[in-house]
Amino acid sequence: MHKGLLITFEGLDACGKSTQIELLKKYINNRTDNQNFVFVKEPGGTKLGEKIRFLFQNYEEDSPSPKTELFLMLSSRAQLYDKLVKPSLEQGKIVIADRYIDSTVAYQAFGRDVLPIEEIKHLNALATENLQPDLTFYLKIKPEISYSRKMLSSNLDRFEKAPLSFFKKVYKGYEYLAETEAKRYHIINATDTISNIHNEIVSSIEKLIVAKIKRH
Ligand SMILES: Nc1ncnc2c1ncn2[C@@H]1O[C@H](COP(=O)(O)OP(=O)(O)OP(=O)(O)O)[C@@H](O)[C@H]1O
Ligand SMILES: [Mg+2]
Repeated sequence: MHKGLLITFEGLDACGKSTQIELLKKYINNRTDNQNFVFVKEPGGTKLGEKIRFLFQNYEEDSPSPKTELFLMLSSRAQLYDKLVKPSLEQGKIVIADRYIDSTVAYQAFGRDVLPIEEIKHLNALATENLQPDLTFYLKIKPEISYSRKMLSSNLDRFEKAPLSFFKKVYKGYEYLAETEAKRYHIINATDTISNIHNEIVSSIEKLIVAKIKRH
């Protein structure tokens, strides 16, 4: 059993994960124990993972099939878990991840229909020694709003160019997870103001840290 905490951010494209993680980084930088926090992003987070991220998002010459996409994602995750997440948690650190296992369930099982949910969960477990997050912030947003926010961005990657119908399926995936993983899911209204969401996230993390200190 590791001594750290794993906190993940999940939700549809453009729900505000990166915006919130950037604010959280600034907040944590002002804490005296900031060296105890590690921020990671999927796919990527390691040198090898960044190459995989590039292939995943921008390799248009021979774009990966949905199954290949799944394995690219899992390779990136396995590398990140072995090289960074596991050692950090063993040192008692707090790892904050921009996407993790739930994204694969939502995007690959529900969105792409590559494999049944249980099989994707099994592959996730193999890549991460079945490490589940302690807390997941689900920035909940309707697919139509996510889609229109995304369309405002000028340089969309291969994955982001998927049609609205795809994101509607991904949304169902997150709704399924919010129900089946309710214990670790903190659902946030992603259409609230950026600062309200930030305050909600900070207070939830503070509570979790206090509980962790009491446990040890
Ligand atoms: N609470 C909010 N209200 C309105 N707009 C927001 C809010 N949070 C973020 N945005 C805007 O939505 C856009 C997408 O935000 P962001 O990049 O943080 O999303 P993301 O979840 O990281 O997306 P991706 O999955 O594509 O990485 C940005 O233009 C951002 O300014
Ligand atoms: Mg982002």
